Amino acid sequence: DIDCQSYTYEDIRETSGFLLQKTKYRPEIGIICGSGLGSLAESLTEKQYIPYKEVPHFPVSTVKGHVGQLVFGMLQGVPIMCMQGRFHYYEGYPICKCAMPVRVMKMIGVNYLIATNAAGGLNESYNVGDIVVIKDHVNFMGFAGVNPLRGPNDERFGPRFPAVSKAYNAELRAAALKIGKEMGIQNSLHEGVYTCLGGPNFETIAELAAMKVLGIDAVGMSTVHEVIVACHSGITVFAFSLITNKCLTTYDDDDVANHEEVMETAKNKEDVLKEFVSRMVQHIQKI
Ligand code: 6GU
Repeated sequence: DIDCQSYTYEDIRETSGFLLQKTKYRPEIGIICGSGLGSLAESLTEKQYIPYKEVPHFPVSTVKGHVGQLVFGMLQGVPIMCMQGRFHYYEGYPICKCAMPVRVMKMIGVNYLIATNAAGGLNESYNVGDIVVIKDHVNFMGFAGVNPLRGPNDERFGPRFPAVSKAYNAELRAAALKIGKEMGIQNSLHEGVYTCLGGPNFETIAELAAMKVLGIDAVGMSTVHEVIVACHSGITVFAFSLITNKCLTTYDDDDVANHEEVMETAKNKEDVLKEFVSRMVQHIQKI
């Protein structure tokens, strides 16, 4: 199961077939809720919950703050498929398994993905609670060969050698910045470069200092593999990070990153994030 050969096209069809038969919803927009951001799914109306453990082939999320269910429902009059809880490499799944729900989304009819996460802020201009619209990523795990597209390529999913240089849709990023202005949060909204590390430990000071030199603005443990699979399958991606803590790059500071702080920041920002996502959905709906 280490190699990314665990899901065939038929497996994904089985999963999406199960869901299409379970729900009356036919969403074109998918949302992945990051750590502590599970409440984004609570803004849906007429909700239908489907726990991961009931879905054929689905992994089950094991992290505190990640519930582990699909939520179908309406937002701004638009049908939505929401993942409340996602899969991380550090949980022990192969990376293709972590990204597998995105292929399911695509097969169900999703054309737009909104991926969210909690991240450490490396860019010194970022404060705790800020939103970073992701404009690009550095796939560190990919440098070492850990890639969700590794293994035989089934062309029905997408091309063998996909371009990912435009993975983060420019039009949606521009719309997000405009929405930020309209909401009056432009001073706590940025565009930046995200990276995903394998985790589960947070980074050393030396690691963070190295990443800063490389132009990385926000550091987390998710999203990149999902975006790669989404891009591969032709899904248009919008992604953002909530900065839940500042990354320290000197030794003379007593603060250390911890999961509780991550969860608390996310909780405090709940309402703003719900409004932000809701307006993004409204925008996508009109495209
Ligand atoms: Cl500081 N690092 C990583 N890898 N993920 C995070 C984080 C830091 N803060 C929230 N998520």
